[in-house]
Amino acid sequence: MEITICIGSSCHLKGSRDVIKIFERLISFHRLEDKVTLKGSFCMGECSKNGVCICVDGERFNVTPSEAETFFNYEIVPRIK
Ligand code: FES
Repeated sequence: MEITICIGSSCHLKGSRDVIKIFERLISFHRLEDKVTLKGSFCMGECSKNGVCICVDGERFNVTPSEAETFFNYEIVPRIK
């Protein structure tokens, strides 16, 4: 699975670095290093939305740092296992 996180300036201000850190921590916690690839992307054209723009296997989401752990556990983990 490929997860692309926008690191454009607007998403950066909304905490994309924090979202990346949280995802990295959860990937190693769940031992998903071989199954999930994290990538950064420039602006994905959805700056006006609330939260950092994330693309999971082609599907777009907007996630704030405070939602990141819940999002990972409920939207990402079930798609992998
Ligand atoms: S900066 Fe992330 S969608 Fe524009």
